[in-house]
Amino acid sequence: MCRLVAGETTLNVVLLLYLFSVFGLSRVSAIKVSTPAELHASKGDTVTLSCTFTSTSRPTSKMSVHWSYRPETGGPPLLFFHFSSRAFPPLSGQFGGRIQWQGSPARGDASISLINATLNDNGTYICDVTNPPDVYGSPNSHTVLTVTPKAPTIRFSDVAVLLTFILLPSGLITLFLIGRMFWPKKQHNQSNYHRSPIEVTEGEERVTYPQAAKVRSATCCEVYLLDSEDEDEYYTLKKSHPRHEEYVESQC
Ligand SMILES: *[C@@H]1O[C@H](CO)[C@@H](O)[C@H](O)[C@H]1NC(C)=O
Ligand SMILES: *[C@@H]1O[C@H](CO)[C@@H](O)[C@H](O)[C@H]1NC(C)=O
Repeated sequence: MCRLVAGETTLNVVLLLYLFSVFGLSRVSAIKVSTPAELHASKGDTVTLSCTFTSTSRPTSKMSVHWSYRPETGGPPLLFFHFSSRAFPPLSGQFGGRIQWQGSPARGDASISLINATLNDNGTYICDVTNPPDVYGSPNSHTVLTVTPKAPTIRFSDVAVLLTFILLPSGLITLFLIGRMFWPKKQHNQSNYHRSPIEVTEGEERVTYPQAAKVRSATCCEVYLLDSEDEDEYYTLKKSHPRHEEYVESQC
């Protein structure tokens, strides 16, 4: 007798658990509405506010869709579109004449489109679907819409500014630098070429032979002719022969 009662309570507990899990699961999987989190559009565009739903029950005539709008500045959501067997688009107000029903309840689609978007249409769009008896779960979802001013002319002027003030000057500078890389080198070589015979005609040894510097005394002309490359050699010469230094400088 006692054993039978214990068995019955166990059975009851299992049954309760089973019923609870079935109801719990069916609640979670009842209706699920999804929309894109964000949408971006330009002024004057036709924006499709996409909304899809899945329901464990087949959509019937009782199925209904509500679209609400909450401005960026906040405040309570404002109902602007209703569907129940047929669409009831707004005839006046902010969205008057600008909403078209794009949905198809049989395919789980409750989308609408917003015609001629304006900068004032920034805000949150909430799609709410009920499909009795499926009214639990997550029956609504929202999309944040941002409408930006249409700017193809601004983009063009941006490109123009970029071209005239950045690309063109930098191109010219690049060309100038490339030109300088080759042209002044030629001139430098030429000046070197012209200088050598002068030194030779003056009967002086070339500066490139430092070991011969003992017998050589630098003249002012030579000092002025020394270019930056030879200057180092000149100073090493000066260092090794400090006695000549005074002579050279006094002559100048
Ligand atoms: C779009 O909206 C602007 C004002 O926001 C209006 O001047 C224009 O006529 C509208 N265009 C269409 C095609 O509805
Ligand atoms: C809507 O958002 C865009 C982008 O942030 C902004 O340029 C525009 O001014 C906003 N419109 C209003 C009415 O605040």
